[in-house]
Amino acid sequence: MTRVLFLLALAGSLAVELTADDVAGEAKALPAGAGKELVVKLCLECHGTGHFRGQRLSPDDWSDKVYDMIDRGAKANDDEVTAVVAYLAKNFGKDSKVLVNTAPLVELKSVLGFTVAESEAVLAYRKDHPAFQEWRDLLKVPGIDPGKVEANKDLMAF
Ligand code: HEC
Repeated sequence: MTRVLFLLALAGSLAVELTADDVAGEAKALPAGAGKELVVKLCLECHGTGHFRGQRLSPDDWSDKVYDMIDRGAKANDDEVTAVVAYLAKNFGKDSKVLVNTAPLVELKSVLGFTVAESEAVLAYRKDHPAFQEWRDLLKVPGIDPGKVEANKDLMAF
């Protein structure tokens, strides 16, 4: 019995595919721009955007990641790789800002340095308030560290 439960748990953890609704939601939240459609098509087949949105890499490092994904089964020709790498490097490059109104938890946490609790508070606040217009609006999020908000204001975009 224990063994069966273990196998079921294992099967569950391997089933990483997103539902069509998840894909649509995550696609909508990705920054607009050249290459986005390809990223949606090629990079959401096996996992969500959280796998890459929390990272800030150079074009070379993004290229390495994309080839790593091709090794894992992603299918893309050379032109598609070029377009996907350009999109990732532009939106999740070394100097890319965080779109605070649409960023997922992992990006708020890894790039802006919020704790999990603070990042969750931002997501919860976003649900029933109008979009943030500037960094000071984040000070209204319950439980958020104001010093951290101000220290990271230049990394935020609205
Ligand atoms: C065929 C399935 C598949 C596709 C398609 C795919 N990935 Fe992945 N990806 C994986 C697997 C498997 C892992 C590692 C296990 C996990 O964490 O889910 C992973 C992990 C990652 C990671 C985190 C690990 C690391 O090395 O930093 C990033 C970043 C990533 N993928 C980016 C992408 C991008 C960008 C694309 C689109 C070009 C993409 N993936 C398409 C299967 C895939």
